[in-house]
Amino acid sequence: MALSCSASMGVWPENATKRKLYSKLREALRIRESIPMLVAYRQGRQFFRYNHAMAKFFALIPAAGSGSRMGNELPKQYLPLAGRPMIYHALRTLCGSPRIAGVFVVLAPGDSEWSRYDWSEFSGKLMVFDCGGAARAESILNGLKAAPGATSIGDDDWVLVHDAARPCLSAAQLDKLMDELADDAVGGLLAVPVADTLKRSDASSRVECTESREGLWQAQTPQMFRYKLLVDALSRVGGAAMTDDAGAVEALGLHPRLVLSDTRNLKVTYPQDLALAELILQERKPQ
Ligand code: C5P
Repeated sequence: MALSCSASMGVWPENATKRKLYSKLREALRIRESIPMLVAYRQGRQFFRYNHAMAKFFALIPAAGSGSRMGNELPKQYLPLAGRPMIYHALRTLCGSPRIAGVFVVLAPGDSEWSRYDWSEFSGKLMVFDCGGAARAESILNGLKAAPGATSIGDDDWVLVHDAARPCLSAAQLDKLMDELADDAVGGLLAVPVADTLKRSDASSRVECTESREGLWQAQTPQMFRYKLLVDALSRVGGAAMTDDAGAVEALGLHPRLVLSDTRNLKVTYPQDLALAELILQERKPQ
């Protein structure tokens, strides 16, 4: 950035060596600047153009699930974790990022829990919609459609979809995702390579075979895609069972990028995951 400023000021050095260097620098900058800010890619007969320079980042947390696998009456996103409802922790990381312009939370219609807590510390960025659907993908799509009514969000802006059930997302993981994908034509997701040996079972829980884990990754969230691409992708999958947003984008024939994360960004699914999540959050507190 600093280089770009000094070269464009047009102060021509008197020394010949410096002039040569300066000239090379200007040429390099000219080439770089001539790379169009609009990156395009073809998808069938459709042609998207993305304005990288102007794209903003938003986050969306679908929080309309019942969390039945936790075996609890209280929806998972509200289960107490380190003294707060679980969703608080993801909100703190997302709202705390100066790069994120706004955070949408999608609640189930008639959710009576949300209003029991004080969310005022996030009021500068938080937008809450009570338009959750029957499935995760539907909740996200409904939230995306509601977003333009609450803020200025453009087709090319990024949306980072993050599950309330991943409370241990760190600021570093979030930054890494945004850094690595900001210039990507498709978008992508945090993920970790599969570490365990994989067994395929038969109907009686006996090993049928050992599967190769080569090239296999476990998908996490956030998953980061352009607003319009995400709306298109989720609209096309409709009611199909889709456990993540990348799957909907893949169904368009696109290839989201995998950004290396780590296992601390775990998904709280079973009761025993809560204790582990609490330990991870405690370990982070002094930072
Ligand atoms: O149930 P599961 O753990 O897969 O849910 C992942 C995320 O999707 C959770 O944050 C949950 O609240 C959300 N969800 C939703 N609407 C649904 C089902 C799940 O927003 N109908």
